[in-house]
Amino acid sequence: MTSVDHIWHGCRLATLSPSRQGLGLVDDGIVACAGGRILYAGPAAEAPSMSDAKRTDCDGRWITPGLIDCHTHLVHAGNRAFEFEQRLSGASYEEIAQAGGGILSTVRATRQASVEALIAAALPRLDALIAEGVTTIEIKSGYGLELDTERRQLHAARRLGSLRAVTTRTSFLGAHTVPPEMKGNSRAYIDAVCNEMLPAIAAEGLADAVDAFCEGIAFSPDETARVFAKAVSLGLPVRLHADQLSNLGGAALAARFGALSADHLEYADEDGVAAMGRAGTVAVVLPGAFYFIRERQLPPIEAMRRHGIAIALATDSNPGTSPLTSLLMAMNMGATLFRLTVEECIAAVTREAARALGLLKATGSLEAGKYCDLAIWNIERPAELVYRMGFNPLYARVWHGISDAPRHRT
Ligand code: NIG
Ligand code: FE
Repeated sequence: MTSVDHIWHGCRLATLSPSRQGLGLVDDGIVACAGGRILYAGPAAEAPSMSDAKRTDCDGRWITPGLIDCHTHLVHAGNRAFEFEQRLSGASYEEIAQAGGGILSTVRATRQASVEALIAAALPRLDALIAEGVTTIEIKSGYGLELDTERRQLHAARRLGSLRAVTTRTSFLGAHTVPPEMKGNSRAYIDAVCNEMLPAIAAEGLADAVDAFCEGIAFSPDETARVFAKAVSLGLPVRLHADQLSNLGGAALAARFGALSADHLEYADEDGVAAMGRAGTVAVVLPGAFYFIRERQLPPIEAMRRHGIAIALATDSNPGTSPLTSLLMAMNMGATLFRLTVEECIAAVTREAARALGLLKATGSLEAGKYCDLAIWNIERPAELVYRMGFNPLYARVWHGISDAPRHRT
């Protein structure tokens, strides 16, 4: 008999297991957990015999894998409500950036913030995501643009993972834009990123991956390639803000470096998407940013499907282009704006988001051996997770086998 800690029974499961079709649905299911990991998830009738354990009757509720927000800039100081007002009066995101606002405005605020202040600012945002069933979150730096502040952002991101029952993964985004003190000299800044910042961040183990912003208002493909080559030489995987505002061949560039993901991708072309398919690079689409900057160019979803690319969805939570702290809302936007199906949206914030973070072996589906990260929902069918706007049907959340207190006792 196998020893277990906790059994959730009487539930319907969306396992996302690739061994089942679509969402991997199970009607009368159970999830059994031992030592923080899933021991069994599947039909109650096929469960192995198990020892006595804490039992939770789910009364027919649905269980999905805990949600994963695989692209955020959660740790930063200040906000950009003022620029939002400027944009409402007609200024574009790029115009504001070129006038010294945009990312640089958040850089000014973040440089003045201590680790404690960064944590205090990020916690309410993290709590909003957790309240919707998020169990894993990626957090980028990129609002320091000099070593000390980038370091403080990554420290804060790591600390958030010890303050809350959530897995955090960090990305070093030193190549987010050229800092004000090096205006017009992106080459010198990329030298600093490659020769000083990246080696230090890698040596201190502060980053799980390296990100960059390849764009007219940020870095060229050649500059991005230098950062990526350095990251790869230090053993760090890469991801890219690619083809968000224009087509600079970012998707193909990311693929060339075997990137875990290429993100945004509104302006990616067929060749770029094909290259991602060959490299196994995940497409992370960010409808919150698309919506907020009123972008019109849709990401090439149909081409992604044709090339068999995994599609993930994330909030891109950031003060400039996506002040969004609801992954459920991002799912709704993915369906409404990008025409993703319900199945694609749910897979995009679970299994495919885990793939985008290189965490597929650890989380993202309800399969034996993975962490017992669960979201338990007061819903009648999975489509409700995508269809509603601004309503949170989470009943309970489980991270590594530990359950938060249930909400909405209905
Ligand atoms: O993902 N595109 C670059 N970075 C962020 C925006 C950052 C900002 O405006 O503060 C994004 O959209
Ligand atoms: Fe982003």
